[in-house]
Amino acid sequence: MNKQLRRPVIAGNWKMNKTPAETSVLINEIKPLVKDAQCGVVVCVPYTNLQAALEATAGTDIKVGAENCHWAKSGAFTGEISAEMIKSLGVAYVIIAHRERRHYSGETDLTVRDRTRAALDAGLTVILCVGELLWEREQNITMEVIGKQVKIALSGVSADELKRIIIAYEPVWAIGTGLTATAEQADEVNGAIRSLAASLFTQADADRLVIQYGGSMNAKNAGELLSMPNIDGGLIGGASLNADDFSAIVKAAN
Ligand code: 13P
Repeated sequence: MNKQLRRPVIAGNWKMNKTPAETSVLINEIKPLVKDAQCGVVVCVPYTNLQAALEATAGTDIKVGAENCHWAKSGAFTGEISAEMIKSLGVAYVIIAHRERRHYSGETDLTVRDRTRAALDAGLTVILCVGELLWEREQNITMEVIGKQVKIALSGVSADELKRIIIAYEPVWAIGTGLTATAEQADEVNGAIRSLAASLFTQADADRLVIQYGGSMNAKNAGELLSMPNIDGGLIGGASLNADDFSAIVKAAN
């Protein structure tokens, strides 16, 4: 399955947690635990913590990400933050289309496409979230839903730009619920996303595409999930707020 072509990435999504001072503390706890990581390690933190995270990770291989960005470069968008602002700090990654933004902040497939474009134009690497609701899975339309999300988000993305896209499959029913997709369920969807990417780009492009799983991934279940042929890392919510748990997932990816 060409898994060796891809370097897994374990990314923490801290969501709306931690102050700048707490950010430094947690990253300083994580640092020694992941210093020998073979996989990519990213911490995605609230905007207000980006500077503290950059300072705390300086001189390490841990990368910093934001949790969203606006689609415009600048302008009358009170309270928003542009991709260029994020990039100018020295941040490398940004999460786009997280389920919580689709649910609470009116994110649509079209705004996801536009934010993805802005992030790529600014030089960021995008962690693009996709996932189905429980009723959609029960109606057997999981791949229709995810196919639509992926196709719209990637419309206008070049093969070269695809190298700066990570797709995170996060079944909505597994986020923060303690319910994890089985390794087989997650691998099946990730494999289907890869096939879709092969049809949109080339098989070689799809073979290089990092596709994570997210949704109640933790120190206990990470090993099984990450051993699957199409799961190239994880987007970790709750467990990323604890240094031991997060580093155990990083070790499982090694
Ligand atoms: P949990 O790991 O808390 O389920 O959150 C997953 C998630 O939403 C990561 O983006």
